[in-house]
Amino acid sequence: MTRAFPEGFLWGCATAAHQVEGGNHNNDWWEFEQRGGIRTGDSSDPACNHYHRFAADFRLLRQLGQNAHRLSIEWSRVEPARGEFDLSQLRHYRDVLTELREQGLSAMVTLHHFTSPLWFTRRGGWAAAGSPAAWLPFVRRVAEELGHLVSFWCTLNEPLIYAYMGWLDGEFPPSRRGDWRGTFRVLANLRRAHEQAYRDLHKITPQVPVGIANHRWPLLPHNPTRRLDRLAARVGDRLMTSWPVGRGRLQRVVEAPSDFLGVNHYSRELVRFTLRRPGQGFVERSVPPGLPLSDFGWAVQPDWLREALLELKPLGKPVYITENGIASARDEPRQSFLCASLGKAWEAIQAGVDLRGYFHWTSVDNFEWARGYSMRFGLIGVDLETQERQVKPSAELYARIARANALPDE
Ligand code: FCB
Repeated sequence: MTRAFPEGFLWGCATAAHQVEGGNHNNDWWEFEQRGGIRTGDSSDPACNHYHRFAADFRLLRQLGQNAHRLSIEWSRVEPARGEFDLSQLRHYRDVLTELREQGLSAMVTLHHFTSPLWFTRRGGWAAAGSPAAWLPFVRRVAEELGHLVSFWCTLNEPLIYAYMGWLDGEFPPSRRGDWRGTFRVLANLRRAHEQAYRDLHKITPQVPVGIANHRWPLLPHNPTRRLDRLAARVGDRLMTSWPVGRGRLQRVVEAPSDFLGVNHYSRELVRFTLRRPGQGFVERSVPPGLPLSDFGWAVQPDWLREALLELKPLGKPVYITENGIASARDEPRQSFLCASLGKAWEAIQAGVDLRGYFHWTSVDNFEWARGYSMRFGLIGVDLETQERQVKPSAELYARIARANALPDE
């Protein structure tokens, strides 16, 4: 039986500005890099030099059968100082989006993907009062100037991961550890920011659906027969999927106002209750045993993607996989990962999930935040000396699937 996907299904890749562009010197990640925050000592400049190579990069994606692309607009370029918009950067992104359109790629645009301008972080970043109001003029300006070239808006990328990595775990700027108050403040502000952006975007670009690229990384009990592990997993999972809505109440991010659900899915983890780690919420995390691991050390089990999609079915909204991929220096694991994951996505569609698109993380091997260039998620390799692109077999495989809008027979 051919496993065909619905007509009009979107086949693309996802990227984030700071990870591919190069030359972003006015945001918190650059400052963090100068302070030695990148474990590998790598520099995000020039990354994949995509800022200058976007046209050739998009042409290649088009040749590889893709019909959509998820990218982010770098806030620190467009609004380098509060209230001052750089028209040349707005023109740059207009050129980027126009090129996508000319190549027949629908654009899904993320308005906050981990980086913030220095003027914003110096006033306290997302933990500070008034942060939503400081971000929204950027959102409105981008919508006014570029909205006609955009097919989907993602207001935020992975709000929970962002808050967790920056305020609890410390691997992301502002590198705070165990700062629970900060974490909740950040999440409350991101929630307000999203809700207002949702309303503003609807006014300015009523034809463009708005959503969030929300991660789904389930936490399960290390020992399912131990009550405290079960409790830790339940509480942890609830906390890692929700944000505060006032008066001590939590709302699942998937229940926030949105026209579609974006899901970023990579893996799962086990949690064990321990009195030794109060800063980390009294839990110790570990990798589910008995499964292959990616270069990141994340357990690989494509069936979890199907389960993540099925969880969204009761919400009755269109779903897009806004990120899914595997860190692997060798390409073979990526090829089997792609076939298996897309097979599971297809199964979820058969089970009634309104899945309308898949954005693989990622097109070109890029700057993986604090891990620098050590994690290769790309369908396309990049020679960091020459910036030459090398199409991997997984990219050709993805191209065959995208062109056929169906999976090869098993
Ligand atoms: C996600 C991020 C993305 C990339 C992948 C590997 O959490 O959204 O930028 O780092 O992980």
